[in-house]
Amino acid sequence: MDTLIIQGGHPLNGNIRISGAKNSALKLMAAALLTDEPVELQNMPNLADSRFMARLLSSLGVDVYWPQNESTCRLNAADISSTIAPYDLVRKMRATFNVLGPLLARIGHATVSLPGGCAIGARPVNFHLEAFQAMGADIVIEQGYVKAAAIRGLKGAIIDLPFPSVGATEHTMMAATLANGTTQINNAAQEPEIVDIATMLRAMGAKIEGAGTSCITIEGVDKLNGVNHAVMPDRIEAGTYAMAVAAAGGDVLLENAPAKEMTSLIEHLRHAGVTVTVENDGVRVMRNGSRLKAVDVDVQPHPGFATDLQAQFMALMTTADGVSTITENIFENRFLHAPELNRFGADIRVQGKTATVHGVDKLVGAPVMATDLRASVSLVIAGLVAEGETVVNRIYHLDRGFEKLEEKLNACGASVTRGSE
Ligand code: EPZ
Repeated sequence: MDTLIIQGGHPLNGNIRISGAKNSALKLMAAALLTDEPVELQNMPNLADSRFMARLLSSLGVDVYWPQNESTCRLNAADISSTIAPYDLVRKMRATFNVLGPLLARIGHATVSLPGGCAIGARPVNFHLEAFQAMGADIVIEQGYVKAAAIRGLKGAIIDLPFPSVGATEHTMMAATLANGTTQINNAAQEPEIVDIATMLRAMGAKIEGAGTSCITIEGVDKLNGVNHAVMPDRIEAGTYAMAVAAAGGDVLLENAPAKEMTSLIEHLRHAGVTVTVENDGVRVMRNGSRLKAVDVDVQPHPGFATDLQAQFMALMTTADGVSTITENIFENRFLHAPELNRFGADIRVQGKTATVHGVDKLVGAPVMATDLRASVSLVIAGLVAEGETVVNRIYHLDRGFEKLEEKLNACGASVTRGSE
């Protein structure tokens, strides 16, 4: 298994180009199932997860043309040969569950494995299934599979989400594009990825209003056409590098970073004493030698502080001056990085959904273990700051969501190499 070996203590200086957003790209790929015409996605991130989604789509009969290392992916779902997404493919990556809605909407039936829980929480899919039921789908769960059918098509419905779930909002919105009548999603999630997906769907001929607000209205159409769409830049990747620079010190322009979608993080960084300026071509992050100040974080749905940036901010706070409390309100088990960060000499105490970080003078490199994608990168940030050598084990988690991580960091002066256990 691959490891990352980090020699800490190097400031970061230079430019980092931000890739396309993983969490948008995966759903945009699933949306290709909604049309029998070609869908071309540009600015695609080359990640284990996006390649994995391509594999699943191929297994459903989608013609996928995406040469290695290229950022344009062409998908053609003219001939769907299977409507079954098997356990092995869904278990490994939850976003593959999102093929259910598009298949149901276009073909009228689908059998998709239940994703199961993961390291950060139980992550049920009840909101997704309740929405499809409200839209007239018959759903049974048998032997770990969701068997869904809407032989006469889905029909528009009013969906009141109990919580602004990103996945349920996206999934319902996609399926509703081909339903009979109008669907209204109340208490919808407002994450920027939802706006990106709606933008592509509209370019395909869908009638969607309100994406990015808490009420989305979708008027179903008979057919969607092909499209050429550029995936939005990854605000989580950008935020992660912003925190890497804040932690290690230096001056880096995050090219293409979507500042408007990063306001909560930028505010927190400024409060901590980091200089963040929004420039025409991205976001510049600077910190000189001065010590950061402790800042509290209350993780909330967008536009609040993103759960996908919580682990990285915790790493940043480990050496800040003072005590920071970090409250995670989205997932019930998203502090697995805390004990690993303590291996660097950090002082983090977790109680329920709050972690209290007592800033220490310095971190010292250590062997640590990645537990999930964002937790893994928080360990990389700690490794960049720590004295001496850090070895991050199980970095396959990182490869799921960060494109060319070592290359991007090393180009700015870091010392990160890949090894093996
Ligand atoms: C998406 O997950 C992202 N994943 C996550 O990123 C991100 O952390 C999350 O949104 C929140 O922003 C992708 O886009 C692929 P939710 P999702 O539905 O859609 C509960 C990463 O690291 N819930 O908004 O699964 C759920 O358990 C990943 O890139 C139900 O109870 O998140 C959670 O507590 C990790 N029933 C809360 O809602 C449901 O049917 C929010 O989950 C659905 C969700």
